[in-house]
Amino acid sequence: MCIRDRYEVILSAVDLPRAQKGRDGIIRLLAKGVEKGKIAESDADEAIARITPVGEVAPLAGAQLVIEAATEREEVKRAIFTNVGPLLAADAILATNTSSIPITRLAQAAPDAGRFVGVHFFNPVPVMVLVEVIRGLATTPETVAAVEGFAGRIGKTVVQAFDAPGFVVNRILLPMLNEAVFVLGEGVGSVVDIDMGCKLGLNHPMGPLTLLDFVGLDTALEILNVFLSTTGDPKYRPAPLLVKYVEAGWYGRKTGRGFYDYSGAEPVPTR
Ligand code: 3HC
Repeated sequence: MCIRDRYEVILSAVDLPRAQKGRDGIIRLLAKGVEKGKIAESDADEAIARITPVGEVAPLAGAQLVIEAATEREEVKRAIFTNVGPLLAADAILATNTSSIPITRLAQAAPDAGRFVGVHFFNPVPVMVLVEVIRGLATTPETVAAVEGFAGRIGKTVVQAFDAPGFVVNRILLPMLNEAVFVLGEGVGSVVDIDMGCKLGLNHPMGPLTLLDFVGLDTALEILNVFLSTTGDPKYRPAPLLVKYVEAGWYGRKTGRGFYDYSGAEPVPTR
């Protein structure tokens, strides 16, 4: 979205090959868009030229907005802020795409908590219109207004949330996804019945177990554990079957198996 809307983007990853892999994924997405007639080939080429993949943080020094989208682990995110923070201009904004970690706590690793904010995108990011903008205790109204303006310019609609575990959407979504795994683990319904039940009975675009396979079971477990540890509320206890699947390395689509097996042409339910 950023590159289509004429922002110059520095795509920084732990090393150059991974940054290039990230750009390759975007190239594939744009190629699909060209195939489907959603974007002109010349616009796609121009957009791709606006990405500079880098394997270090130094080139971020001139950025006006840095959005961290690393793995959902606090120590990883903090290390990034500690490295990037000192490079940034005095008026630059540092944002995190965390799904669940408290913004106020993460802000402690940022150079200025007033210019630190949560910007939470939804998968698949090019398609989903929503962005949650989350203000920590010290985030200034100017910072919120700046990222809201940015989100609008890349075609997103913003909902605002104050800093609380899961913010608005994941606070509601994750307990539902977790409950679906309890239902499966207790033998109340099969994978197909749970997914079909929610699709046809609730008009959800996809069933909760299909969605979990997209989100990543490991990510979902991390999020639930953050809810549990930050609130101490047992209602967020992860379903034992979710824990088991993660222990087995069955993370969903990214590992080829979760609640469905993705080794064939079509996903096959595993229970
Ligand atoms: N994550 C990643 N990719 C997804 C996805 C998801 N949640 N949902 C759908 N996709 C991909 C599909 O794999 C497909 O990719 P392909 O073209 O390479 O095969 C593409 O999007 C189109 O999917 P559909 O065939 O379903 O096409 P539609 O155009 O009919 O619908 C959709 C697209 C509107 C995205 C619909 O699939 C949908 O609503 N999906 C659920 C989206 C959702 O619930 N997102 C929220 C996830 S939670 C989150 O992001 C928060 C995080 O913090 C955990």
